[in-house]
Amino acid sequence: MKPSRDRRGDNRSEPSRPATALKTRDAGPRPLARREGALPGENLPLILEVEPNEDYALLDSGGGEKLEQYGPYRIVRPEGQAIWQKALPDREWQRTDAVFTGNTDEEGMGRWRFPKTPLGETWPMRHDGIDYLGRFTSFRHVGVFPEQASHWDHIEGLIRAARRPVRVLNLFGYTGLASLVAARAGAEVTHVDASRKAIGWARENQETARLGDKPIRWICEDAMKFAEREERRGSRYDIVLLDPPAYGRGPKGEVWQLFDDLPALVDICRSILTPKPLAVVLTAYSIRASFFAIHALMRDGFAGMGGRVESGELVIREKSAGRALSTSLFSRWVAE
Ligand SMILES: C[S@@+](CC[C@H](N)C(=O)[O-])C[C@H]1O[C@@H](n2cnc3c(N)ncnc32)[C@H](O)[C@@H]1O
Repeated sequence: MKPSRDRRGDNRSEPSRPATALKTRDAGPRPLARREGALPGENLPLILEVEPNEDYALLDSGGGEKLEQYGPYRIVRPEGQAIWQKALPDREWQRTDAVFTGNTDEEGMGRWRFPKTPLGETWPMRHDGIDYLGRFTSFRHVGVFPEQASHWDHIEGLIRAARRPVRVLNLFGYTGLASLVAARAGAEVTHVDASRKAIGWARENQETARLGDKPIRWICEDAMKFAEREERRGSRYDIVLLDPPAYGRGPKGEVWQLFDDLPALVDICRSILTPKPLAVVLTAYSIRASFFAIHALMRDGFAGMGGRVESGELVIREKSAGRALSTSLFSRWVAE
């Protein structure tokens, strides 16, 4: 086990949580049967990198902070893993548009400081031609996790190469970038998140991206409950994406604990696949585990399915000194 790293800043599911009392799901843990058959092939460690590009760049890092370019803005945020020294001179770090201070408990933008001029809550961003909104939020996040671009490129390639209708389920979908990329590539997408606020932001992103005519179902629900219902109803998907927090809550106060709930959710993801599935992509962050743990879980879970399980880390390559900033662990099952 590795010590937990400060990946993604913190493990809170960011948008405001419902005041409802804590509640675990009624049915209790799903009984897990051993999946029969040969284990899928494997490929690990696989390090997927996001390089600096014109939409987003990790400009520099060090001294517990990171300096990033998000579209038009330079942003400074805390970064617990950056225990090395900054490569750029102080004047570069002072030339910033927004700094996360986190020094109040208030919701929203109050935890940001704008050294040049006060900024609005959102700003125009773009990923590979898809317009969306960056956003200053209470929990130091900015409405997008750029390291996920490695997954977006991968699923876009799978969807386009399939040359047939593809159904994608995006669990814990947040502001919807993966859903937009999949829909643009021609997939029919179901996007699930527990936060009404996040769903609102995702819909706004769909409009901003001018993808309003694409088939995306936006669903505000507990991911586990939704997946269980899809299993009962016989709804099937070719690609499932899941990016669960270490701890989160559904809209009715349902508790999500990654270590308790992930095995069952992976098992359900397997059973809601179409007869010719393409991939299941899992990301995990802010947990005390290595990618070997989720690799073993995925390989057991996809026994008998053929294909291969690839696992490793999502990292962002820094522009100044070329250091890699690790953001999360991932494990994906990919059909042959
Ligand atoms: C880290 S974000 C996912 C990021 C997303 N994959 C992306 O790249 O934009 C985690 C999301 O899980 C949601 N969440 C937390 N608990 C949940 C639950 N029980 N069911 C569904 N969504 C949940 C949060 O609202 C948050 O939007």
